[in-house]
Amino acid sequence: MVKNRIIETNEGIQNEVTVESFDVFARNMRDRGWNGVDGMIASGIKGGDVLEVGPGPGYVGLELAAKIHPASLTGCEISPAMLRFAEKNAAEYGISARYVQGNCMNMPFEDESFDTVISNGSLHEWEDPIRAFDEIFRVLRAGGRYCITDLRRDVHPLKKMMVYFSTHPKEMRPGLISSLNAAYTSYEITELLRHSNLHNATVAGDFFGLCIAGQK
Ligand SMILES: C[S@@+](CC[C@H](N)C(=O)[O-])C[C@H]1O[C@@H](n2cnc3c(N)ncnc32)[C@H](O)[C@@H]1O
Repeated sequence: MVKNRIIETNEGIQNEVTVESFDVFARNMRDRGWNGVDGMIASGIKGGDVLEVGPGPGYVGLELAAKIHPASLTGCEISPAMLRFAEKNAAEYGISARYVQGNCMNMPFEDESFDTVISNGSLHEWEDPIRAFDEIFRVLRAGGRYCITDLRRDVHPLKKMMVYFSTHPKEMRPGLISSLNAAYTSYEITELLRHSNLHNATVAGDFFGLCIAGQK
């Protein structure tokens, strides 16, 4: 029996100390190849003008950009502290990404501005996922693709334990659990998508998370 969802935040990750630790954690995930980029590419993401929703310190979009060389990379991030890390990390990659402070409930972009929208690990923090899905649909050009990956609350307890103990730095471990408790099950996400403009999306579960992918 899967426990009910427990909301973690509606304001993103704002605390400076948490942001600094999250940067170390996300860098570590990147170095292990565990940040979902290959799955995003496998889902059919092509490049063009790419938008990353909730980039945090930016490693997912930056790794993707280093692999597929899109025309441009933009990030829409609610937390100013995260934006500063993303800008620093983009400079380290030598990629001229544009990071914009904004809430994905109401993104500061014109309709049909992007060919690709990606997001990893942010969905469980969105106040109203249906509204965010509709925003993703709005900013995508016709034929554009999206891939949204996140944790899955109905993950097997043994996998949860494995990932918990392999999470570094250790101070991120309680955050992993609160994020898992806030995450959706594949069934819940399928239901939410059904009520949004992304109703044609496919939802696939993987080792620890879920992947929502499709085309406008
Ligand atoms: C758990 S972090 C994941 C960061 C990064 N995508 C990664 O995989 O390493 C979630 C990020 O989403 C951001 N976020 C949460 N809600 C948001 C919203 N409504 N609009 C934009 N960004 C949001 C948070 O501030 C945080 O940086």
